[in-house]
Amino acid sequence: MAGWEKMQRRTLWWDDLGFGLDTGDLVPDGWEENWGKMAQAALLAMERLESGAVANGTEQRRVGHYWLRAPELAPTEEIRLAIETTTARLRRFTAAIHGGKIMANGKKFSHLICVGIGGSVLGTQLFHGALAPANPPLIPFFMDNTDPEGMVRVLASIGKNLGTTLVIVASKSGTTPEPCNALQVIRQAMERDGLNLAERAVAITCSSSALDRQAEEEKWLERFPMWDWVGGRNSALSAVGLLPAALMGIDTESLLAGAAAMDRLGRSTGGRNPSLQLALAWYAATGGRGERAMVTIPYRDSLARFSPYLQQIVMESIGKRLDRNGKTVHQGLTVYGNRGSTDQHSYVQQLRDGPNNFFVNFIEVLRSPADGLNAATATAVAYLEGFYLGTRAALEEAGRPTLTVTLLELTPFSLGMLMALYERAVGIYGEFVNVNAYDQPGVEAGKRAADRFLRLKNDVETFLASAGKTAEEASAAAVAEALGRPEEEEMVYKWLAFLRAHS
Ligand code: PA5
Repeated sequence: MAGWEKMQRRTLWWDDLGFGLDTGDLVPDGWEENWGKMAQAALLAMERLESGAVANGTEQRRVGHYWLRAPELAPTEEIRLAIETTTARLRRFTAAIHGGKIMANGKKFSHLICVGIGGSVLGTQLFHGALAPANPPLIPFFMDNTDPEGMVRVLASIGKNLGTTLVIVASKSGTTPEPCNALQVIRQAMERDGLNLAERAVAITCSSSALDRQAEEEKWLERFPMWDWVGGRNSALSAVGLLPAALMGIDTESLLAGAAAMDRLGRSTGGRNPSLQLALAWYAATGGRGERAMVTIPYRDSLARFSPYLQQIVMESIGKRLDRNGKTVHQGLTVYGNRGSTDQHSYVQQLRDGPNNFFVNFIEVLRSPADGLNAATATAVAYLEGFYLGTRAALEEAGRPTLTVTLLELTPFSLGMLMALYERAVGIYGEFVNVNAYDQPGVEAGKRAADRFLRLKNDVETFLASAGKTAEEASAAAVAEALGRPEEEEMVYKWLAFLRAHS
């Protein structure tokens, strides 16, 4: 079949939404014959999930991020009310901050620090990169790690504006070390300047978490809820992402409306369900066993944060040792990427000529805010489109599979659509490969491993102090032995080396 004819056949386009999906040669004609039953079962499972069944079996939780943009579909009145009340409250709060009804020492808030990690910040960072105006009402900064250098850098950039800085701490569990540490660093910086953190802080967390209790006791400005039926990586369209987005001046109603519109498409059966088609394309590309990585290349600077966002929702959801029957499967779907055309001057060389172990997910945006600005921007954007088309053709010629998601323009509505498209594709793909796409045992294990190390670190330091020795004088083997943990000699060695580097 001629290339153009093939492309017309394989491209789905929704005029009313300004959205299209071209799954390339990945989803074969007549896919229903082999995969129809699997697709039907996955859609049924999604229907059950959306109607409130316990879909996260290991944690015995409902999975309700779809209700956030369609509260009328929530399985109980209580959940519907909780969503609607929270949305109304965060709109009122945002208006009060923007309008100067809530101020810090008589001054309007000017800056914002978003504290959180993983699912509690990646969506917010995506909103910031993609949609924040050039001069947002509050200038945003992020503390999304426990590296003090990054925190100190943020505080230095904020400088004398710390007094008019609003701090949002988002942590579902309220105990994750990275945001807790960042909060302490901000608290100390504020105390040093004679500022009261509580008058500038907002918590977004599960009710009665440690963070929630602290915010309540200290009388923080506001507390917004996280719910156990919204997973961290699917929480961008809850208060976690919506509050900071609104404070940055982003139209959050349109974000939600876009997600709701995509959800409606995602509930349809058959060939014009874009999330189903996307999940089928992944399944075809990877053999349902993660055989190829998904390289995500949006051709827009503003979508540079999309790949890390997608990386988390896909890899944390699909990357599982056990399937839902407890069988060891080591499932996964590797996602990496950055943006075009930048990546063409980097790893795309290997994509073209190296191992054929990936497929590319291009994201094309047809209109640009710089359209019509002048002849030079018109040339620049023509190159951008040309580079996308050229790279796609070159890869396909070399037998490397690709698919493309096209947006007419990047707006809050279309970003909401894009997020919902992938969220549901992940859910459907999870059904195909029979993994729980809503738990994260590996992340929890990482948190526990860090706790174990910190206990060991404290024991090493207590031992050195009581023995009157410095790190230079101590041997790892002797310390591990004295602590009764010879199996942890390597960890002891690493901490002694760290202490020596600081002496
Ligand atoms: O998606 C997830 O569950 C994780 O990435 C969490 O968002 C991350 O670990 C942060 O957890 P918390 O929000 O509890 O601080």
